Amino acid sequence: MTQTIGVGMVGYAFMGRVHSQAWRNVSAFFDLPVTPVMAALAGRSKDKTAAAAARLGWKAAETDWRELVARDDVQIVDICTPGDSHAEIAIAALEAGKHVLCEKPLANTVAEAEAMAEAAAKAAAASGAKSMVAFNYRRVPAIALARRLVADGRLGVIRHVRAQYLQDWIVDPDFPLVWRLQKDKAGSGALGDIGAHIIDTAQFVTGQRLVGVSGLTETFVKERPLAESSEGLGGSRTAEKGPVTVDDAALFIGRMSEGALASFEATRFATGRKNALRIEVNGSLGSLAFDFEAMNELWVDQGEGFTRILVTEPDHPYVGAWWPPGHGLGYEHTFTHEIRDFLEAVATGADPSPSFADGLQVQKVLAAVERSASEESRWTEI
Ligand SMILES: NC(=O)c1ccc[n+]([C@@H]2O[C@H](COP(=O)([O-])OP(=O)(O)OC[C@H]3O[C@@H](n4cnc5c(N)ncnc54)[C@H](O)[C@@H]3O)[C@@H](O)[C@H]2O)c1
Repeated sequence: MTQTIGVGMVGYAFMGRVHSQAWRNVSAFFDLPVTPVMAALAGRSKDKTAAAAARLGWKAAETDWRELVARDDVQIVDICTPGDSHAEIAIAALEAGKHVLCEKPLANTVAEAEAMAEAAAKAAAASGAKSMVAFNYRRVPAIALARRLVADGRLGVIRHVRAQYLQDWIVDPDFPLVWRLQKDKAGSGALGDIGAHIIDTAQFVTGQRLVGVSGLTETFVKERPLAESSEGLGGSRTAEKGPVTVDDAALFIGRMSEGALASFEATRFATGRKNALRIEVNGSLGSLAFDFEAMNELWVDQGEGFTRILVTEPDHPYVGAWWPPGHGLGYEHTFTHEIRDFLEAVATGADPSPSFADGLQVQKVLAAVERSASEESRWTEI
């Protein structure tokens, strides 16, 4: 009989729903050494949390995340709350000997991320607890294939990385001041929310780390109606207004550890672009290009121009567990892959990736971009 492991999740809105879907389905598609049991969900409002638990498939509901962490039937804590609570929840869970999966960006500040990485290292030594930060785009089959092509030397020496994450959900100046637009809740704006993803993706695909940056940030709409309610990228507004305290867009250039030059653009003002996480990599032997809005495709050049690879073959990363060639995967599958890899690591004792130390390194890049932008784009080492 397969062993089971109890999971407790905090937060049940956008990420909570997508993570629940992954916890529910992972064992139905992947052969795993351990089967997750969705033991408990934590929120703040009693009725809403109980309703969400019933709908999403969690056995019990708690209104204080501390109670969830303390439960004997919870061995994994999955953090799906805004960045202002990541450090406190993750550190408490690690100190209680629980494994932790934490949404990105790891924290709102470098200091918090340092404390989390330290707690993760201590817990790993003391209790064997595993921890991972949820950069799900690594688990898009086309992105995992891109990494494989670079690692196999198919692109030769990497010279350029061009990464963009383009959305347009706050173009309307009357869109409400949701938590993502407040520094105390989100840490930063487009930079930390979506820029963090392209930093991780660029480093993952190339196997190189950013070593220095020069950045520009801008807040185009300085004041917005206060939010009455919000979930994910939506919200409703009140008549009163308040200040936007984060960047609306962040652009930066950087040098990578093995000599590649990179450029990054993260914005929520790219009208018409909904979730365009794009990366293009140019090497001495060829190139590759990806756009999440066509997530089942990878474009590859080997010297004669780009050709399309439909990344739906059974030998492509993760794809064999799903549908026949050409049938395609969606956003939610990346989370199933993430949870599959995390469970595999927990069960086998391997170190999951990206680790909290990797999350800390991304946090240092974010801080360097902000520092550079505040000093007239001064070159800033990481
Ligand atoms: N990996 C991705 O692609 C991706 C996408 C979106 C969001 N995220 C990250 O996921 C996290 C959550 O974002 P979201 O879009 O799901 O936000 P959301 O606003 O949709 O949901 C946040 C949830 O956290 C709950 N919450 C807030 N503070 C809490 C507390 N102290 N205790 C218990 N519950 C609390 C809210 O009630 C809500 O259920 C953020 O860190 C965000 O950056 C990641």
